[in-house]
Amino acid sequence: MIREILQFGDPILREKSTEVTEFGKELHELLDDMYETMIDAEGIGLAAPQVGVLKRIVVIDIDDGKIELINPVITAMWGKQFEEEGCLSLVGKKGIVRRPMHVRVKAQNRFGKPVKYHGKELLARAFCHEIDHLNGILYEDKVIEWVEEEEDCE
Ligand code: CO
Repeated sequence: MIREILQFGDPILREKSTEVTEFGKELHELLDDMYETMIDAEGIGLAAPQVGVLKRIVVIDIDDGKIELINPVITAMWGKQFEEEGCLSLVGKKGIVRRPMHVRVKAQNRFGKPVKYHGKELLARAFCHEIDHLNGILYEDKVIEWVEEEEDCE
C-alpha cells in the first residue's frame, strides 16, 4: 500500500525516531509499504519518519537491489564526495552536500538478524541521508549550494 510522504515543514520530520524491538507482521507490512511508496515516487531511499512512523527503519534501492535497515548504525566512514542530493520530502529541490565516499553500516534485517553493509559513492550517500532522517536531520541542513531546477512550463 502506498503511503503519503510527509513534506518539508511537517514537524514529524524533525523528531528523533526510536529503536525497533518488534520484528513481526506490522514491521513487515510497513517495510513493504515503504518500498512500494519509494518506488512509486521514483526515489532511491525512504526513512520511516517520512511516512509518519517515528521508528528507526530505512529502505534503499539504488537500482542494485532492495536494502532494508532496521536500527542502523554507521560504524565507519572515510573519504569524501560532493554531489547533488534530493529528498522525497523536499520535492523539486536539489543541493550539493558533502558526504563520506565510504560508509560501513550495521543494522538488523526484518527478522531481527544482524546485517552489515559497505556503501560506496551513491550508496554511501544514501546510507548517510536516510540515517540522518532517523535523527530529524534533513539534507537541507547540510547543503553547500542549491542547484537550480528548471521550471516547468505551465
Ligand atoms: Co530524504
